[in-house]
Amino acid sequence: MTAADVAGPTGSDALIADQIAYYRARASEYDEGMRQLGRYASIGGSVAGRPSDEDFKEIATLLEALERIRPFDTVLELACGTGWWTQWLAQHARYVTAVDAAEEMLALNRERVNAANVRYVLADVFSWRPDRRYDLVFFAFWLSHVPHDRFAAFWRIVGDSLAANGRVFFIDELGTEETRRMEKRLEGEAVLRELEDGRRFRAIKVFYEPNELEAELRALRWNLEIRPAGRRFYWGQSTT
Ligand SMILES: C[S@@+](CC[C@H](N)C(=O)[O-])C[C@H]1O[C@@H](n2cnc3c(N)ncnc32)[C@H](O)[C@@H]1O
Repeated sequence: MTAADVAGPTGSDALIADQIAYYRARASEYDEGMRQLGRYASIGGSVAGRPSDEDFKEIATLLEALERIRPFDTVLELACGTGWWTQWLAQHARYVTAVDAAEEMLALNRERVNAANVRYVLADVFSWRPDRRYDLVFFAFWLSHVPHDRFAAFWRIVGDSLAANGRVFFIDELGTEETRRMEKRLEGEAVLRELEDGRRFRAIKVFYEPNELEAELRALRWNLEIRPAGRRFYWGQSTT
């Protein structure tokens, strides 16, 4: 399998469009894929790891960290997907805005979460602008999908979404040997993703080391601490 198999226009606009097409097509198999990966197990539809393994402990660690930044009244969740985290957020906040560029993801999220305090917004994060400010801006497994040349612009959107004293909390994968091996790298930040029916798409995957990410964010005047949750995931949060 080579880059030529999924060749398309280069540049981050094209990759962003391909990545949206990929997630739209993947929505119906996303949850099962996550279960197989062991990222989450569905326990009443809520966020949990696979019981009795290391990922379970990591997800528990992430949830404890998220618990510690409560209370928050209003939450913006970017790239909310099928709602693994939206459900938790909806239970702990008065009001959640959940943004995603794939309407298929939003439909599954709405079905799972089924909460009157969640407003769904269909939008490409990179061209979306907030219409209000939030106590918490949350995103899970999203930053690694942001092309590096959009990194600063993305963080400006996060900043424009935060209320005074608002906080950021985000979760992603560490760039370990295992997580890197799972990706079929094309050129640069592009990776090849394949659906069950064999359709292939390009997506973006940028791994960060916690220290390096902290420094990059500091250069943009963000004081965030980035902590590994274990061998697979990390979280970032505003320092108080
Ligand atoms: C790896 S999934 C993470 C979903 C969810 N946060 C979770 O942890 O399960 C990435 C999500 O980003 C969404 N997405 C991709 N490109 C996007 C864009 N440009 N703007 C908004 N959402 C986007 C996809 O539709 C997908 O739901």
